[in-house]
Amino acid sequence: MSEVVRINKGSVYMAWAKHHAGARYNLANSGIIGCETADLPLSLDDVMVNGPNHEGYQPLKEAIGRQYGVSADNVVTAQGTSMANFLAMATLIEPGDEVLIEQPVYDPILAAARYLGAEVVRFSRRMADGWQIDPEEIRRLITSRTRLIVISSPHNPSGVAVEPAILARIGEIAAAAGVFVLVDEVYRDILFEDAPPSAVHLGPHILATSSLTKSYGLSGLRCGWILCDPVVAERARRLNDIFGSVGSMPSDSLAVAAFRHLPLLAARTRSIIEPNIRLVRGFLSAHEDCLEYVLPARTMIVFPRLKSQSDSGPLHDLLRCSETSIVPGSFFEMRDHFRLGFAVRTPDVEAGLGHLSAALRQLSTGQ
Ligand SMILES: Cc1ncc(COP(=O)(O)O)c(C=O)c1O
Repeated sequence: MSEVVRINKGSVYMAWAKHHAGARYNLANSGIIGCETADLPLSLDDVMVNGPNHEGYQPLKEAIGRQYGVSADNVVTAQGTSMANFLAMATLIEPGDEVLIEQPVYDPILAAARYLGAEVVRFSRRMADGWQIDPEEIRRLITSRTRLIVISSPHNPSGVAVEPAILARIGEIAAAAGVFVLVDEVYRDILFEDAPPSAVHLGPHILATSSLTKSYGLSGLRCGWILCDPVVAERARRLNDIFGSVGSMPSDSLAVAAFRHLPLLAARTRSIIEPNIRLVRGFLSAHEDCLEYVLPARTMIVFPRLKSQSDSGPLHDLLRCSETSIVPGSFFEMRDHFRLGFAVRTPDVEAGLGHLSAALRQLSTGQ
């Protein structure tokens, strides 16, 4: 596997994803393939260079609020879910606070909590449990120093959404203990009409983060947000005065236009994902001799386990010879797994899966 620059702050995974994940057949990508300018019916009138953005651009906060059933006061805009997660954590935790974080996890979440001086305690999401969460495990781990619980739903790397009843139970446990819950919902909207309401509706101690990146292909806009209680939102905005301070007006005005065209973007996403998930379902069921997996009905990622290898690194390396990339499980602290993403163009998914099939065969026969 390629050398990753040594870093002592930041995320090793993110450094790898930015500089080493790309390939002609990119099955390492976790979100819908990025839009071209022509995918959005925009005009120059949609762009504002400067404007009133001290506390977030009001029309954007209103558009986000309308989409997720909250008021603009509940919305803090941020640079992508990345900054939304960091800002939410920085708002809530002090050095030495305990933060419960799922395992496996999207590495920047873990890195951010550690950077903020939190004592990180892990709870499990196991494939044997369908990658769900056991609320009782969370209850047992909470101490008087626990400040925050962090969950992704749908989960990166497995693509599995936490069942609404389980999330509600976690919310109750957290409320009783005076603990906040941060739910990263960046993959939620690809559940389309089956998406549960945003977790923010579970109570004032729940925060939800997301963006236009993964489900809509608009990573370049960096339009992210935190949905939360207005008191927490105000604290986050004041803290943001020492980070980004104000939003980017061209970006936020274009994001307002993107919200107007969200049904169009969702239709694009669906048309890309649906054939691909059929391909991946067929691929996985044809490889049950060597792969164990949980495949949700709707997802863009899956996290299979290699039945007879302890490390997916060699599989990754072999695939590189056929211009195909996957994410080695080591980036998710589970070496015998790998993350397979399939929201790129269908012919590329088809070709990439063909190469994956050949590489799995080669590894199992040693030829
Ligand atoms: C769980 C999770 N949160 C956040 C992000 C970052 O998203 P954004 O582009 O909105 O910053 C990712 C990207 O992979 C992710 O998987």
